[in-house]
Amino acid sequence: MVNYKDLGLVNTREMFAKAIDGGYAIPAFNFNNMEQLQAIIKACAETKSPVILQVSSGARKYANQTLLRYMAEGAVEYAKELGWEHPQICLHLDHGDTFELCKSCVDFGFSSVMIDGSSLPYEENIALTKQVVEYAHQFDVTVEAELGVLAGVEDDVVAEESHYTKPEEVIDFATRTGCDSLAISIGTSHGAYKFKPEQCTRDPKTGKLVPPPLAFDVLEEVEKKLPGFPIVLHGSSSVPQEYVDIINTHGGNLPDAVGIPEDQLRKAAKSAVCKINIDSDSRLAFTAAVRKVLAEKPGEFDPRKYCGPARDEMVKLYKHKIIEVLGSDGKAL
Ligand code: G3H
Ligand code: 13P
Ligand code: ZN
Repeated sequence: MVNYKDLGLVNTREMFAKAIDGGYAIPAFNFNNMEQLQAIIKACAETKSPVILQVSSGARKYANQTLLRYMAEGAVEYAKELGWEHPQICLHLDHGDTFELCKSCVDFGFSSVMIDGSSLPYEENIALTKQVVEYAHQFDVTVEAELGVLAGVEDDVVAEESHYTKPEEVIDFATRTGCDSLAISIGTSHGAYKFKPEQCTRDPKTGKLVPPPLAFDVLEEVEKKLPGFPIVLHGSSSVPQEYVDIINTHGGNLPDAVGIPEDQLRKAAKSAVCKINIDSDSRLAFTAAVRKVLAEKPGEFDPRKYCGPARDEMVKLYKHKIIEVLGSDGKAL
């Protein structure tokens, strides 16, 4: 048993309270490897932004959970080395799907876990979430739950269609589960193809897809029912078209990839949405940089020569999100 406090990590409680009061959102960035983690910490140290490091079950399988835990502990020390005096770093399980997985993360030094029962019938989602909350709270680990189903692939949960969160359920759900934050469905989805072309219009100049707006009316209803309660948005990559273009012109093939426009995320960040999840954009930044180097220098075979530029590109991306979209810069001095 390792307690996250001994690793220098923090849970989400204080971060979220400040973010709601201050009208900004905390970045929740997924990581699977050293370069992503270095880039996240560098960007946050340079901007003094609190951050949630997210680990999916896929990441646990890919990188090994013991290594990931030590990497997160190392991240706190690295942040200090970079001159960030009081790093606020949360280590969070993304899309936990069983009590056992959440328990194992709590026991292993995570400071926050998500139990995603969104694909279960309502009462089963409540029962599972409550079980995780009761365990996690004994160790002051915070718990994110989800109500409503996002379109697309949620780890092993496949949702054919999105079902917006029903505002009339949120008071009952939050009260009976005791969860600390709630992920809702208002039209975002995971991955780089968030909308089908037939759901979008096309910009006549660029030919690029223009997605439909998020359901801000649902968000407003939820906020009215649960004033001051921390709301989470998954699937919030904006799928920058410059990365898609670099990938497509250097041997890749991502036709009609489309994300959530950043002005909509900016608007959400000012509301009760205090955690915004971004993973795909970092994958795109990484892949664009790697493809470019390998296409331009076919003789290159030292991974540092393409992972280095990929890391630099991710630092740029994370800083942009923090400063220009979420507004979390300068909130963890
Ligand atoms: O919500 C999903 C995250 O982007 C994690 O994706 O399961 O491929 O690691 P993953
Ligand atoms: P994106 O695929 O939009 O980056 O969403 C990531 C996410 O929600 C992780 O839980
Ligand atoms: Zn997610």
